[in-house]
Amino acid sequence: MNNPWLSIFIISLSITIHLSSSESLINTTCKAMSADSPNIKYGFCATSLQAAPASQCASTRGLATIAIRALRYNVTDTRCFIKQLLKSGGRWGPYAKQCLGDCLDLAMKDFNARRFDDANIRISSVMDAATTCEDAFAEGGDGVVSPLTKMNEDAFRIGAMALSVVGMIRTGSG
Ligand SMILES: *[C@@H]1O[C@H](CO)[C@@H](O)[C@H](O)[C@H]1NC(C)=O
Ligand SMILES: *[C@@H]1O[C@H](CO)[C@@H](O)[C@H](O)[C@H]1NC(C)=O
Repeated sequence: MNNPWLSIFIISLSITIHLSSSESLINTTCKAMSADSPNIKYGFCATSLQAAPASQCASTRGLATIAIRALRYNVTDTRCFIKQLLKSGGRWGPYAKQCLGDCLDLAMKDFNARRFDDANIRISSVMDAATTCEDAFAEGGDGVVSPLTKMNEDAFRIGAMALSVVGMIRTGSG
């Protein structure tokens, strides 16, 4: 190639193509998953995957690892938050305290989902835990409001995403 401008043009074109194609793996994956599941919202999916380090370069497998890691961070955050609430003492009635303690036990079910084969069982159990925790507050009556709603919702949504990406890998569609 004897025209340097042409080489520069071709190099920058290939960089652009590379950047936009890796960006759109997140987009296309989130689009496919949100079309497939009512629990997955495109915006939430794209935002949370894009926020992870190096996610722009990730393969589908990489996106699954990112989603699973995000779920673990969520659960760790929730655990810490519950401990702080319990430490803050008096403000919680006996029923709320009981619920918080149960939610903490549920959030203790840690999981190390390195292996994708059994990852979905573990992810599902975290999603169940979030739902069970939220339901316990709702069943209490007497105006007990769950202080964990947002966190449980996040864990449920991230869990749905993680399940879906892992599913794509297992069925070979990712
Ligand atoms: C991918 O999603 C991001 C954020 O949602 C958006 O800014 C970008 O334009 C999308 N890219 C494509 C190729 O759709
Ligand atoms: C859970 O993870 C999502 C995505 O990474 C994030 O947006 C959200 O703030 C996290 N929530 C908690 C409570 O850590």
